[in-house]
Amino acid sequence: MKTRIAEYLKDVESFKASTLEQLEEFRIKYISKKGLIPGLFGDFRNVDAADRKEMGQLINHLKTAVQEKIVSLKDALEADTSTQESGMDLTLPAMPTLGSRHPLSIVRNEIIDIFSRIGFSVSEGPEIEDDFHNFSALNFPPDHPARDMQDTFFIEKNPDIALRTHTSSVQVRVMENSQPPIRTISPGRVFRNEAISARAHCIFHQVEGLYIDTDVSFADLKQTLFYFAKEMFGEDTKIRFRPSYFPFTEPSAEMDISCNICGGKGCNICKYTGWVEILGCGMVDPNVLESCNIDSEKYTGFAFGMGVERTTMLKYQINDLRLFFENDLRFLQQFDASH
Ligand code: PHE
Repeated sequence: MKTRIAEYLKDVESFKASTLEQLEEFRIKYISKKGLIPGLFGDFRNVDAADRKEMGQLINHLKTAVQEKIVSLKDALEADTSTQESGMDLTLPAMPTLGSRHPLSIVRNEIIDIFSRIGFSVSEGPEIEDDFHNFSALNFPPDHPARDMQDTFFIEKNPDIALRTHTSSVQVRVMENSQPPIRTISPGRVFRNEAISARAHCIFHQVEGLYIDTDVSFADLKQTLFYFAKEMFGEDTKIRFRPSYFPFTEPSAEMDISCNICGGKGCNICKYTGWVEILGCGMVDPNVLESCNIDSEKYTGFAFGMGVERTTMLKYQINDLRLFFENDLRFLQQFDASH
């Protein structure tokens, strides 16, 4: 009898159930009325008086082991079915989540890439600027509205220190510290005191470009930007220039590209004109060159500046600029590395 109990105990300890049905079979086998344990208690009557105490203890020990086994397996199996019901599979291996670049970074890098292929270097500068680099050197008159508190985030007044309103400030720094030929673009974050909406934000990103050398003409500006537009938006892209005004360029223009959404036929993105505005540009005003110690008799140059948000919206057909700043994973995951 002792060996029988030991065998049962071994069987109980090693028992595993993957379904509640198997566990029920196990229960019936051991503790139902006709099960093995009641059987042992039946045989107990024939045990010698001297061995009864020991046998009694062994059978009780076995019975407890069976009961504990049933309780623990039942708990485990029930927990398992509840995760199945919730649709979770806890046995799945952990899936590595691929990180992704922010759409603004993707487009900024692409802009840098396009211009670096035609010899432009990348310059960076501070986000907190003084009046000279953000305004005065760029030929902004003292009473220009952009200097107003309404448009610019001032940190200090007299002398004025502000968050830069464009990355033209970086180009002033480049001109101060080098002589032509200069071919550079300056990507970066800029700040303007604007109400936040689907089309505007108080923080956004720009890439501005500057080219200064002898004999640089508007034709060079036009070809450079035409090349950019085709690389960025496709071979069939057309461009057009509209006269505009910036204090630091003369003449100044705004450049439109043919709407890449409707192909120029007219849609709500291009407001049924077939064209969308993409950047500001012009020939660098001689006053700007002189402010930065560049001989305006000898050198001429062109400059341009574009918003990265706007370019990204056109490239990916995104209709609300606020999406770039909300970090909603459902938006960002559409740009992950596997797409
Ligand atoms: N600095 C201008 C802006 O912030 C863009 C621009 C740059 C326009 C260079 C013309 C030439 O909007």
